Amino acid sequence: MNGTDTKPTAHLPKKPKLFQTLISDSEIQSEFSHHDSTIARINNGSFGSCPQSIISAQQSWQLKFLRQPDHFYFNGLRKGIIESRQVIKSLVNADHVDEISIVDNATTAAAIVLQSVSWAFSQGKFKEGDGAVMLHYAYGAVKKSVEAYVTRAGGYVIEVQLPFPVASASEIVDEFRKALERGKRNGRKVRLAVIDHITSMPSVVIPVKELVKICREEGVDQVFIDAAHGIGCVDVDVKEIGADFYTSNLHKWFFCPPSVAFLYCRKSGNANDLHHPVVSHEYGNGLAIESAWIGTRDYSAQLVVPQVLDFVNRFEGGIQGIKKRNHDVVVEMGEMLAKAWGTHIGCPPDMCASMIMVGLPACLGISSDSDTLKLRTHLRDNFAIEVPIYYRAPKDGEVNLVTGYARISHQSSNSEKVFHDVYRLLIVSSSMKNNGQPFISAELPSWLVLMVSLP
Ligand SMILES: Cc1ncc(COP(=O)(O)O)c(C=O)c1O
Repeated sequence: MNGTDTKPTAHLPKKPKLFQTLISDSEIQSEFSHHDSTIARINNGSFGSCPQSIISAQQSWQLKFLRQPDHFYFNGLRKGIIESRQVIKSLVNADHVDEISIVDNATTAAAIVLQSVSWAFSQGKFKEGDGAVMLHYAYGAVKKSVEAYVTRAGGYVIEVQLPFPVASASEIVDEFRKALERGKRNGRKVRLAVIDHITSMPSVVIPVKELVKICREEGVDQVFIDAAHGIGCVDVDVKEIGADFYTSNLHKWFFCPPSVAFLYCRKSGNANDLHHPVVSHEYGNGLAIESAWIGTRDYSAQLVVPQVLDFVNRFEGGIQGIKKRNHDVVVEMGEMLAKAWGTHIGCPPDMCASMIMVGLPACLGISSDSDTLKLRTHLRDNFAIEVPIYYRAPKDGEVNLVTGYARISHQSSNSEKVFHDVYRLLIVSSSMKNNGQPFISAELPSWLVLMVSLP
């Protein structure tokens, strides 16, 4: 379920070749030498990272287009995109390449699915008051998309209130069941469930397989998994998960350039009115073909997926190895920070993938979303630390609890610097005060303070 399972996955394409030499530490450094080394980069989750060799491969595609656009359009583009779709098909264990469309990002994929729901309302297939279920922690843009396409079309939206911090996957399952019951009250039908595979903020791995099963048992028409962080972070087997739709970005945790994502649409599913929101002359030729031409633009990010797979396979254990190492490192970092801050991590390690939520001390007094933004900006502007901060509003009666959490990410592109970057956050936090009270009380070892230079 989470990013820690390293058992070999039968459907993974092109196993790392035995004769292929593994990427060395110095090669990793050189692949990511365009990263600003003065920045503590502990936020891979928002935008990912792309190696130099892939940027070069992308540039050769761009030049192919610029050199002879007609030839590229008629003989290169479609073939290249099919190759990328084939790689993704094997990576996620889809039955057929037609089930895989390449789109710009998870935001676009959500629009495709939700637009079709909106049409189902306007064409009378769904009735006013029919429901859609989504997590309270669904991504902001996806929530807006639900508002734009479902609420406006007459749908009733039920949010699943998830506990955070969360102690076990069963707490999530219980809340999900309750939300479905609410959704089905008064004979209403639940037409759609939108479920994150890994929520963004706070970041928690959701037991999607169990939730999809519950949806099937409870007669929910369609299930859409928003796995913007999926590929490269958790195991993705779309058949095993069993949803109708599954999207993942490839630019977050799979080293693709920004931006490229896929949308899997199960062939045997019951939604067939799917179209790209940008209508081109390919309209009506199937979602995968429509998505492969949405007018003149740069398609190069979508064309380098096979080269990205080769890059990933240069790491020990390929993508499985990367996931496991990222997970292990991020848990180590998270637990170290939580100990120094006297707080806790937001969920058990097996519900973290390559991101972990770490409680900030209550004395910091974070009491709103705007406080988290201020802290994030302060850390970026004054200490060159990139780290997202989450505000958790206290429940009625709760006092002096942890209200702020830092989301720490780790990706192999930063292996060489990760300890240094996280120590910088620790040292900065040790010098911070709120109303005269030190941010952390633990004395930091002098070797740590000495080894980390602050900007
Ligand atoms: C859960 C979730 N859904 C959707 C998105 C949107 O991804 P993108 O900006 O690549 O469309 C994100 C981005 O972080 C996300 O975390």
